[in-house]
Amino acid sequence: MTNSSVESPSKPKDMEQIVSLCKRRGFLFQSSEIYGGLQGFWDYGPLGVELKRNVKEAWWQDMVRGHDDVNTLPGAPSPYAMEGLDCTIIMHPQVWKCSGHYDLFHDFMVDCRESKKRYRHDQLNGRWVEAKDKKIFVTAPAGDDEQAHFEKQALKFFNLRSKHADSLSWDGDSTCLTEIDGFDQVLGPDAKTLGTLTEPREFNLMFKTVVGALSGEEGTSFLRPETAQGIFVNFKNVLDSTRHRLPLGIAQIGKSFRNEITPRNFTFRSREFEQMEIEFFCHPNDSQAWYQFWRDRRMRWYQDLGISSDNLILREHDKDELSHYSIGTADIEYAFPFMAEGEFGELEGIAHRGDFDLRSHMEGKLDEKSCPLEVQLGDDGKPKWKGSGKDLNYRDDLTNEKYTPHVIEPSAGVDRSTLAFLCEAYNEDEAPDDKGKMQTRTVMRLHPRIAPIKAAVFPLVKKDGMPELAKRVYLDLKKSFHVFYDEKGAVGRRYRRQDEAGTPYCITVDGQSLDDNTVTLRDRDTLEQIRVKIEECESVIREKMNG
Ligand code: GAP
Repeated sequence: MTNSSVESPSKPKDMEQIVSLCKRRGFLFQSSEIYGGLQGFWDYGPLGVELKRNVKEAWWQDMVRGHDDVNTLPGAPSPYAMEGLDCTIIMHPQVWKCSGHYDLFHDFMVDCRESKKRYRHDQLNGRWVEAKDKKIFVTAPAGDDEQAHFEKQALKFFNLRSKHADSLSWDGDSTCLTEIDGFDQVLGPDAKTLGTLTEPREFNLMFKTVVGALSGEEGTSFLRPETAQGIFVNFKNVLDSTRHRLPLGIAQIGKSFRNEITPRNFTFRSREFEQMEIEFFCHPNDSQAWYQFWRDRRMRWYQDLGISSDNLILREHDKDELSHYSIGTADIEYAFPFMAEGEFGELEGIAHRGDFDLRSHMEGKLDEKSCPLEVQLGDDGKPKWKGSGKDLNYRDDLTNEKYTPHVIEPSAGVDRSTLAFLCEAYNEDEAPDDKGKMQTRTVMRLHPRIAPIKAAVFPLVKKDGMPELAKRVYLDLKKSFHVFYDEKGAVGRRYRRQDEAGTPYCITVDGQSLDDNTVTLRDRDTLEQIRVKIEECESVIREKMNG
């Protein structure tokens, strides 16, 4: 047994290197790349699709299929049931009116008349700067290297060289554009002249489509912006068909679509993405306890799959941040490498939605507290949007109590989780090459459960019966796992390629294998090589995946 691993130096991760590895090794490609790409749309390559599938399968197994519904889980108020659903992407348009998305699911945007670019109003920051007796407000997209952008813009505007940057007089700190009234003195991030930004305008984020041959409003429907509503409108169907008592969680994984104004940061903010959502229906009196339970449970899930607790936070929303439906929300956030130092990006929201959704789908009116009356009521003073009129209340068979359940919603993004797992896994350390010389290697330390390839099988050399035996080992393991066979090039090079793909094990068939039916099993992280019997390979890999 050898152990030649070297601790990876903890240096900040470089997003450009991660993006480049994702393309080079086939995790992620830009959609429609040969036509120049389409902003906000991404394709998963051969390694990416396996990784993403494994993330979804881990979630489904841990939250739904493998859920223990007979015992009380630690921290839970009682046992509970879990079921799954798979609903359509296009639903009755009334769903989106009653959910509030039709009226309230918008961002404010500003357009630049000069550069023709569009920005989210709340994502532009700016700073006052004075030179040559003139004071202007220079802007940059939040999160970028703002000050460098401000300075570049200001120097260009005042026609100064960078060596004269000292003559710029800055006033105040970086401020969001939402704090500024009137844009006459504002220089857009990509503009050369002042006052080219339009006043902020509402922009609904739902993609419209036309159903059937009907034209105009009649045929207009929407691609779902969340999977949640499919669960709410099927609540009674699931309850009646399964005969569960509450509490009951209903889970769904599927595509959602949002016409984001400024998609960015790789897959973090996309226009087409996948969600893994649970709507958890419970008695109103227990809802706070369940909210706590789900916050803690979901936080642990990411940690169990390898995200370091140093890079994760659970952040409770301030009152003014809450969505129109929410009584309380906490976000699980990850320290993505593209965030500024000390900042985190949302992976999942756990929301206490009260009875908002079920009541809206019954009565067709929105909650007065969370939605302005003028939005809810028509000119005649009556609720503008009709609900289904169906009784979506719950009657407890044992107690005979009838109530509108409260809902706790853990809502996770598949693509954001996958991106977080990729960022967390990316590491550079040192490992010996074929001649035993230490070399820098890139290694994706993905948890074995989500690693795209579980093991790679190599013959040490391409002769003496080694390829034949290696192929037999490979085909045997393939019945249980996604495994990879490689006989090309030096074995050290083959190890490196698997390290980059995140493969936890490499199995090498050598001369000894032909005599005693053993192989070497090399561990990606520790670089340990142990000899195991061929028939034990499967159980060793399985143990590692479950461990
Ligand atoms: N049903 C509640 C809901 O949809 P959300 O916070 O808007 O809540 C839940 O979305 C999760 O979906 C987010 O935490 C994020 O992981 C993912 N998500 C939302 N918008 C996204 C986007 N434009 N691109 C990628 N993932 C997104």
